[in-house]
Parts: sequence; C-alpha cells; structure tokens
Amino acid sequence: MPTVRSLRPALARAPPVCCGSHSHERRPPLVTVKRPSGDESCVCSRRSWLALGGGISCMCCTSAAHAYSLNADAQRSFAVGMDEGMREYEDGVRRRKVQWLSQGLGDFSRGLRICELGVGTFPNASLYSELNMRNVQVVGVDPNPFMLERARDYAARADVDFVGVQGDDTCLEELTTTSEGKFDAVVCSLVLCSVNDVSATLGRISKSVKPGGRFLFWEHVRGTGLQGIVQDSLSPLQQVVADGCHLNRQTLKTLQSCKTFSVDSAETFLVDGASLIAPHISGFATVIEA
Ligand SMILES: C[S@@+](CC[C@H](N)C(=O)[O-])C[C@H]1O[C@@H](n2cnc3c(N)ncnc32)[C@H](O)[C@@H]1O
Repeated sequence: MPTVRSLRPALARAPPVCCGSHSHERRPPLVTVKRPSGDESCVCSRRSWLALGGGISCMCCTSAAHAYSLNADAQRSFAVGMDEGMREYEDGVRRRKVQWLSQGLGDFSRGLRICELGVGTFPNASLYSELNMRNVQVVGVDPNPFMLERARDYAARADVDFVGVQGDDTCLEELTTTSEGKFDAVVCSLVLCSVNDVSATLGRISKSVKPGGRFLFWEHVRGTGLQGIVQDSLSPLQQVVADGCHLNRQTLKTLQSCKTFSVDSAETFLVDGASLIAPHISGFATVIEA
C-alpha cells in the first residue's frame, strides 16, 4: 500500500490531467490506495460470490480490492449496470437530490473538500455543477476501478474538481492523514446498503470528517409491512446479483444509535417506480466528535 506521502501530490488541488486515450480534453487524476497484494490470508466475505461468478475457485478473499482484481468482468458489468440502468432513477430523484446536497453542505462559497464514499460512476457530478459549487473539491472513493473510470469522465464533463481514489471505506483514515487533513463533509448515496458493516463504516466516516462537519446520506432502506417482508426474503439474492447490496437495512436506526453523529435532518420517502428499493431515507448529520 502506498504511503501517505505518496498520496499527497495526487490529492493536492492539481488541475485535471488528460489520460490521452479518450475523446474528452481533461480527465481528473486517479489514486490507488489499496491494491491486491496476493499474499494476504483469506477470510470469507460477500464478494467471494462475485469471484465465483468470474470462474475463480477461491471462496474467500481478504479485501474488496483483492476480489475485484480476480473478477474484472463482474466489476465492469456492475459499473455499466449502475451507469446505464439507473438513469431513469437519477432523473426522477434529481430535484430532491439537489435540495438535499444544497441543504446538507450549507455555505460552500468558502470552499469545501468533500469525500464521496462509494462514488460509483458519480451520478451526482452534474448536481454539484448545477449548484455552481466552483470552490468544492470532491475526492471520490470506490473499490471498483470501472466505476471510477466513468466517474472521472462525468466529473470532467461537469467540470467538477475531482480526485478518484480506488479503495474502500477502510482507506478513509489514510486519506485524512494527508496534509489536507479531514474532510468538510462525507457524502454517501446508495452505499451503506453495500458495505459489510454499517456501524464500522459510520465510525470511519465520523473519524474522517472535521468536528462540526457533515455526513450526508441518501440510502434505500427496509420498508414496512409486506414490502419489508418481501425485501427480507429477496435480500440474500440481491446481495449476490448486486455486489453485496442489502434490501432490508434499517440504516437510519443504525445512524441514530451512533454517538459520534447528531442527525440534523432525516426524511423517509418512496421513489416512484423503484420497486424493491423504493423506500428511501435522506438527510444529514453533524459530526460531534473526532
Ligand atoms: C449502488 S452503488 C452507488 C454508487 C453511487 N454512489 C450512486 O449514487 O450511484 C454502491 C457503490 O459503493 C461501492 N462500495 C461497496 N462497498 C464499499 C466500501 N466498503 N467502501 C466504499 N465503497 C464501497 C461500490 O463499488 C459501488 O460503486
């Protein structure tokens, strides 16, 4: 794993650079925090299913990055699926998302450094641009390099100051020990459904945000009544086909039980036409402790 010192140049506010192999003119930089070492001992994780899907016999893997390295086809398919399959969803929630980001981030005229954890293909890029957030730098973290490839393109098209970091939530600590320090805010959209341990991820998020800074969440969650029961029964299948996504997490309860956050605003709502992922929460919390 690279040292913090080696991350500094790429994380600095350097102008986006061209990769030379695409039609766009400028493309933001990419930093790899976690690379598979190949000599790590295996423990079971949900991503071993993806490895099986890719014809790999190993049942275990120790990190997301390791599994991903074994299974490029599955990662690529998921990135294409999120990018192309979620367009209608993104169009439908756009107005609400703009409001959520603008309220949650507050005054960004002074300049903000934000981490989008699980940035995916960066569907939020055009929202930052719509909000005219010229003084904002987004550090997009994701274990899937194919997501980041698209994220960097969308960032360039939306003219967002973006640095892509290949890694999972465990790299937050390393990122915040760079000279630039902790983030003003961490943003997660549709991510806490997919992490292995929501409480552990929330703990890492709270440590990576400045005290008084914000955590913005936008998540699909378990619904009530029959809908919740159906989500419970289909969640194991969803985890296999959708990269570890749980249909039935009660994310708001988990967040409210975290002592390091004070939840300032939380809404529950249904997204039209989103079927099994229709029940949503969105809002923001202030980090009250480093
Ligand atoms: C459903 S996608 C959402 C992507 C994007 N935020 C969006 O709104 O479309 C979930 C993303 O979280 C990433 N992810 C999964 N586990 C993660 C972890 N432990 N840390 C960071 N990202 C993770 C996946 O690679 C994927 O890109």
